[in-house]
Amino acid sequence: MSWEDAWREGRTGWDAGASPPALVELARSGDLPSGRALVPGCGAGYDVLTLAHAGLAATGLEVAPTAAERFEALRDDAGLDPSVARVELGDFFTYAPAAPFDLMWDYTFLCAIEPARRPAWEARAHTLLADDGELVTLIFPARPEPLNGPGRPPYPLLPEDVEALLSPRWERVELRPVTRSHAGRDGLEHLGRWRKRA
Ligand SMILES: C[S@@+](CC[C@H](N)C(=O)[O-])C[C@H]1O[C@@H](n2cnc3c(N)ncnc32)[C@H](O)[C@@H]1O
Repeated sequence: MSWEDAWREGRTGWDAGASPPALVELARSGDLPSGRALVPGCGAGYDVLTLAHAGLAATGLEVAPTAAERFEALRDDAGLDPSVARVELGDFFTYAPAAPFDLMWDYTFLCAIEPARRPAWEARAHTLLADDGELVTLIFPARPEPLNGPGRPPYPLLPEDVEALLSPRWERVELRPVTRSHAGRDGLEHLGRWRKRA
């Protein structure tokens, strides 16, 4: 089943209907880079809206047109302008924006792609972020057993997996378990913040 089929048929069990508490807290803290933010695999785009409310110009990226339509309805309800909150239709692995981003936020995208593609995800993040930009990952599901059975997303994603993937070209700014999560995800999320090595 394609991602678009999943969206059209309402098989979106990952959709929690809001940004995760960890992102809400980060946005409130003011401790995020300013400028342009990218949210790959943003789904309905709650995190795009949260980042836009925090003052960033936020772009979500989606392969599923139905997800992008959901986002547009939510953005209209929120009264936000497309200049600060928008979703582009496109594939993260070939996306070519006009300018690099200052922040890339990943939540439930890295765990949704096949693990063999994780090095390509790292390469794309490196290309898409400005040299002084920040990669922020809410790592989920941090447990070794697959949540939905073997061979199906979300694929297990442990903090040490992400650290091993990133450490050759990224410095760890922070890596810690979060204290609050969406219902059912307690104890399964770690926040990682990373900057490109000089
Ligand atoms: C598990 S969902 C997570 C959605 C959202 N981050 C959330 O937390 O609700 C993964 C999303 O990634 C999108 N996606 C999958 N592969 C993609 C790709 N290569 N480029 C852009 N989006 C993609 C899917 O359409 C889907 O909406």
